Amino acid sequence: MYRFKDYYHNQVQLSFEKNPFSSLPKHVWVVCRFQDKWLLTNHGDRGYEFPGGKVEENETADEAAIREVKEETGGIVSSLQYMGQYRVSGKEKTIIKNIYYAAVSELIHLDDYMETKGPVLLDELPDNIQQDRRFSFIMKDEVLQQSLKRIIGNIQD
Ligand code: GTP
Repeated sequence: MYRFKDYYHNQVQLSFEKNPFSSLPKHVWVVCRFQDKWLLTNHGDRGYEFPGGKVEENETADEAAIREVKEETGGIVSSLQYMGQYRVSGKEKTIIKNIYYAAVSELIHLDDYMETKGPVLLDELPDNIQQDRRFSFIMKDEVLQQSLKRIIGNIQD
């Protein structure tokens, strides 16, 4: 279990066990690869981030992950792996988010990418992402770094 502060100084707990905080998390975040590149979305307010969002009524967290990737990037998920979960204890509310790794096999053009400006493909994630204003705050804490550590070396594109 890892404990650290996020970009806004909220307390975060992170674990790569199965459902350490909730078996019914309400949020998902999906680290995506497409054709040897990282696939992100450009969120209208927050900037570049891996896609994700809220689990809707009548869907599972896994289904939400696949849906959010499609809505925010046009990406069709061909394989989805649960990786871990984190809890952010904010001033007003606490959220619990599943982390996934997804291989995307196809990128479809959509006219509407919801609250995002659509897909962003990157060969590399910059080393100085914390200082890079193009990137969303959700990419600026240890959740990304610890998740990438587990993914790199295991990538099978
Ligand atoms: P609505 O309920 O639709 O109004 O959404 P919201 O704006 O309250 O956002 P949400 O419920 O998605 O998240 C609530 C708060 O949790 C946000 O304001 C963030 O501070 C925090 N949060 C959400 N996702 C993440 C994340 O991936 N990482 C970190 N560090 N904080 C997050």
